[in-house]
Amino acid sequence: MIAKRAEEIKPFIVMDVLERAHAMEHEGINIIHLEVGEPDFDTPQCVKDAACKALKEGHTHYTHSLGNLKLREAICRHYFKAYSVSVHPDQIVIASGTSPAMFLIFAALLEKGDQVIISDPHYACYPNFIRFVQGVPVMVPVYEEDGFQYRPEAIEEKITKKTKAIFINSPSNPTGNLLSESRMRAIAEFSPHIISDEIYHGLVYEGKEHSILEFTDNAFVLNGFSKLYAMTGLRLGYLIAPKPFVRPIQKIQQNFFISANSVVQIAAITALEEAGEDVACMRNIYNERRQYMVKRLREIGFGITVEPTGAFYVFANAKHISPDSYKLAFDILEKAHVGVTPGIDFGDNGEGYLRFSYANSLENIVEGLDRIEHYLNNL
Ligand SMILES: Cc1ncc(COP(=O)(O)O)c(C=O)c1O
Repeated sequence: MIAKRAEEIKPFIVMDVLERAHAMEHEGINIIHLEVGEPDFDTPQCVKDAACKALKEGHTHYTHSLGNLKLREAICRHYFKAYSVSVHPDQIVIASGTSPAMFLIFAALLEKGDQVIISDPHYACYPNFIRFVQGVPVMVPVYEEDGFQYRPEAIEEKITKKTKAIFINSPSNPTGNLLSESRMRAIAEFSPHIISDEIYHGLVYEGKEHSILEFTDNAFVLNGFSKLYAMTGLRLGYLIAPKPFVRPIQKIQQNFFISANSVVQIAAITALEEAGEDVACMRNIYNERRQYMVKRLREIGFGITVEPTGAFYVFANAKHISPDSYKLAFDILEKAHVGVTPGIDFGDNGEGYLRFSYANSLENIVEGLDRIEHYLNNL
């Protein structure tokens, strides 16, 4: 018999779209991928060189379970430089991606039945992590008219004795929007812990992102190297936790994962310290694509009330085409040969929307949106 927790975990629908797209490519069909949440850029050369050097020098063994101290120190410097916040290296745990870091936080924080407030729409995996450790995700709907930002008063209404944490993600996947400084400050004043997924920090094209640590110490930060440094396959992320949680998290890490990849931890120091120009270059290109995509999607008739200013996503209203985003995404794939992600993947309140990723070349984005226009004209 398969365990209930494994039977019940939901699939990540975007992977279903991607797998169908790959099957079509295998049949010789050209597909434009606007569904994937993965940088199309190569990892910066300085990072690759650092990884090769570390490998050649034999840094191929377990590291400290909290992670390489030099990397943790570099992360502290990064948070001080970017947000003027003081973090101690002993508050940081390096993991094999932001995803395992998220697991570590929930495993250390949640008892059976504890509630975690998350926005709806939200990154598809959040509720699955929470349920896996027997917690209960509590959704707070966020709306297009509001740039998909939380309203602090809507969060307040959902806080109960069982609320262990409020989860924020700015810039957000799937919406590409930022939480304003004033709303973040207001949320930071609530008594549950705040868990802030800061993985898209650095990919902001207008305005400025804020770390939750600017407003409260009662917070956990999640971050990683996948997006900003185009290092998805190298699998490295980290968490910053209030001191009392570090030892329990460390024990879970020791038992479940031992340590993160030794070579990549060394390369990540180079990413933080030397990849600034590469990041700036990628950011400029993303921004160009963002502007084009928003303009073109609006021309084709999709609804974008508030322009997204971060990450690499546009969450567009497609309710005038179909109320069923899953069916629509697969129909667009089958008939227009463009991969897009159905909004339902990100929660019930995402139904009727499609997520378009601009982590693809401008040339492909132009072609993909032309194909979608043609598809719509022939409906
Ligand atoms: C909001 C968000 N958090 C976390 C992750 C997972 O990142 P990682 O590759 O570091 O595990 C993703 C990946 O798409 C994401 O969009």
